[in-house]
Amino acid sequence: MAALSTIVLQLSPIFIGTLILLKILQLVKRKYELTKSFREFPGPKPHWLYGNMREVSGDLDGLLRTADYGAIYKGVFPVWMGPLDAYLNMAHPTIVKHVFSGSDPKDEFSYALMRPWIGDGLLLAGGRKWDRNRRMLTPAFHMDILKHYVKIFNESTKVLVQKWRENPGCVETFHHMSLLTLDSMMKCLFGHQSNCQLETVRPAYIQCVYDVSDLIIKRIMNPIHHYGFLYSLSDNGRKFKYACDTIHDHSNMLIGERRKLLEKEKPGSRNIDFLDILLSAKDSDGCGLSEQEIRDEVDTFMFAGHDSTASTLSWCLYNLALHPEYQDQCREEVQREWGDNTDLTWEDIHKLSFTFSCIKESQRLFPPVPNVSRCAEKNITLPDGRIIPKGMRMAVSLFALHRNPDVWSNPEEFDPYRFSEENTKTNAGSGNFIPFSLGPRNCIGQAFATTQLKVVVPMIVRNFRLTLDPSRPAEPEAMLILRSKNGLYLNITPL
Ligand code: HEM
Repeated sequence: MAALSTIVLQLSPIFIGTLILLKILQLVKRKYELTKSFREFPGPKPHWLYGNMREVSGDLDGLLRTADYGAIYKGVFPVWMGPLDAYLNMAHPTIVKHVFSGSDPKDEFSYALMRPWIGDGLLLAGGRKWDRNRRMLTPAFHMDILKHYVKIFNESTKVLVQKWRENPGCVETFHHMSLLTLDSMMKCLFGHQSNCQLETVRPAYIQCVYDVSDLIIKRIMNPIHHYGFLYSLSDNGRKFKYACDTIHDHSNMLIGERRKLLEKEKPGSRNIDFLDILLSAKDSDGCGLSEQEIRDEVDTFMFAGHDSTASTLSWCLYNLALHPEYQDQCREEVQREWGDNTDLTWEDIHKLSFTFSCIKESQRLFPPVPNVSRCAEKNITLPDGRIIPKGMRMAVSLFALHRNPDVWSNPEEFDPYRFSEENTKTNAGSGNFIPFSLGPRNCIGQAFATTQLKVVVPMIVRNFRLTLDPSRPAEPEAMLILRSKNGLYLNITPL
């Protein structure tokens, strides 16, 4: 026995060394293949060690440089992530439309860190599972269901308005928008009254949703923590596990409560919501979702829905503060169309075309989801004949696409008239403007989010004058969503 352990001990360095050597050979082979495929895709020269990572990082310089490269290299160029790995970055509508019309899977490298939180829900699922679940969940966003949510969006925004009226002055807008969207998502999708906008001590679930997004961002920034085992031993790894466990417990609780309610209540006694559809949906074989699948979807929709909408709202308010003339125009439109009406309807919110143009123009310049990634399932032949080989990781920079000078004149200028009725067909068509992505894996919550935006922005401009705080300028930073590096501070004056 002792002899055997001595042999094992002696052989283990050889075994580990062989594994490391094989890994290195695999990476070198990948580097060779990538370099070969990139012959047709010129791009910026990579640093021998960092590649292009520093140039196209998520800060403002990196974002603007990505947009410049998009223009220089005709909308597609390689980005080296170090000496051995790279992906293709895309920022031209013709290329993006072509790639997104396929059903290539998500790039696991970019999304894997979210998996312990949101599991194999719609955002991360692939293949047949995604196809089946997407079909089953699409009815949850039908107009007849969305119409009822206008009242909830209205109520949640009234809570914010009241809060800001009592405490006007300088506010960190992103934080308030996050709480607002969490509050309304919980009410609309799960029938749950969290009161999170008012609680002085944040409920554990809300705190954990906050923490887990932050921790994912910190993990992305620390390559050592990309190794699951090392991360699980770290402080942040333990916090992440605790936050995920708390969120999962809460989701299980919501699901359990709804099941009990469904057993007791009379059918038709309340409006049907997302959770009802999750629990009752059946595929063509008559099979419903498993317990695990239901929980994954609850967590996925909370993740995918609240911060992206909060980002859109925050940047839109920022742009209106930056352009007081457009803010006044929105306010005039709201007063003209809504008068003193405070109980908004589905019809009311669709009357504000100029305000909606401002929302879209803000989404163009500050896309809430700044990057979307895919992995080529098979060779893709681009319209110009170039080939993206099977296995290539691809990222679409919505930030660069939306500022591509081949598509947009004066791309840096905030001009809501790009989305006026007469201009919108030319400007917003053909993959030029895709804040919700496009193709089969576009955002399932687009209509839900847009309905909410159409309630919240007008209600805020109707009640407050928004101005910038010159001492705390906002600076876009691409994380999972587009945030502001130092927070997004605005001065709020009640009207
Ligand atoms: C303004 C707010 C929003 C923006 C800008 C936005 C944007 C996007 C984008 C760009 C994608 C594609 C992501 C990818 O391919 O990796 C996406 C997917 C998704 N979004 Fe949204 N989203 C918003 C709001 C929402 C809301 C409110 C919900 C839920 C109620 C939601 C649920 C989802 C889901 C589940 C997916 C995955 C869809 C699939 O792969 O089939 N989103 N969203």
